Amino acid sequence: MEWRHKDLISLEGWTREELHFFLEQADYMEELMNRPIKKVPALRGKMVVNCFFENSTRTRVSFELAEKMLSADVVNWSASGSSTSKGETLRDTVWTLEAMGADAVVVRHGAVGVPDYLSKKLHRASVFNAGDGTNGHPTQALLDLHSARKKLGNLDGAKMAMIGDVLHSRVARSDIQAFRKMGVSVTLSGPATLMPEDTGSLGVEYVSDAREAARGADILYFLRIQRERQEDGLIPSIDEYHRRWGATDSLVALASPKAAVMHPGPMNRGVEIASSVADGPNSVILGQVRSGVAVRMALLYLCLGGAR
Ligand code: CP
Repeated sequence: MEWRHKDLISLEGWTREELHFFLEQADYMEELMNRPIKKVPALRGKMVVNCFFENSTRTRVSFELAEKMLSADVVNWSASGSSTSKGETLRDTVWTLEAMGADAVVVRHGAVGVPDYLSKKLHRASVFNAGDGTNGHPTQALLDLHSARKKLGNLDGAKMAMIGDVLHSRVARSDIQAFRKMGVSVTLSGPATLMPEDTGSLGVEYVSDAREAARGADILYFLRIQRERQEDGLIPSIDEYHRRWGATDSLVALASPKAAVMHPGPMNRGVEIASSVADGPNSVILGQVRSGVAVRMALLYLCLGGAR
């Protein structure tokens, strides 16, 4: 397949065929990760700048590992200590990085739309969205597809229950889009105060009872609950939240016996997920982290011309 995407801002324009092709590339990258020497020269001479305006462990480290395994030159830019503190705009910052030779900019930002804006301003460099506000986290969706597919095989016709704070979750928006494209039906559950108003337009159904959502599900996807939301009165007490919507052994027992238990991390153990579930036999949470490196390798490889 001829790869036509230069940037990854959202998965909206990706076809199911492209997702399948991409996941096969990620499988190949995961094989590379198993080799004693985890480095190939595919992106030698390419420069990638990682710009994280928000904290991150998984996304930041896995992008950097992926870049290094493909032999790209890596620059970890950070807002603190940069000239943004002197009033330089984001646009001038990325133009400066591009003028120095950056071939790609990986950006995480708290404001919705920043990666899209930068992709329109940059002349040559690729832009990869590493999470923008509550809008999207497309590489998380790709890694979630990759790890769900590893556990379950073909996802077409599978049932996913996505439980938790959908309203504030960029992961939820990207995952709903990606899993639906692969033929997965998605049921949301959680407090009604943490649901977007447009669940119908997202093509998913909502049930308030997590047990109803979990019954027979092939994928149980738990979203992080921000403790600070409690102050906004959006959730009952943490204890009640955990009882009603948390990942407990009794909730998991309602799902398919081989169900994949997923969580994007970071986890609040004892809040949205019990340790016995996070570390239990159905959990693929560390597999998701590993898939994160493989899919980011595939993304860099395909979009930066490694395939050519
Ligand atoms: N899942 C995720 O984006 O984790 P980080 O915030 O640690 O990158």
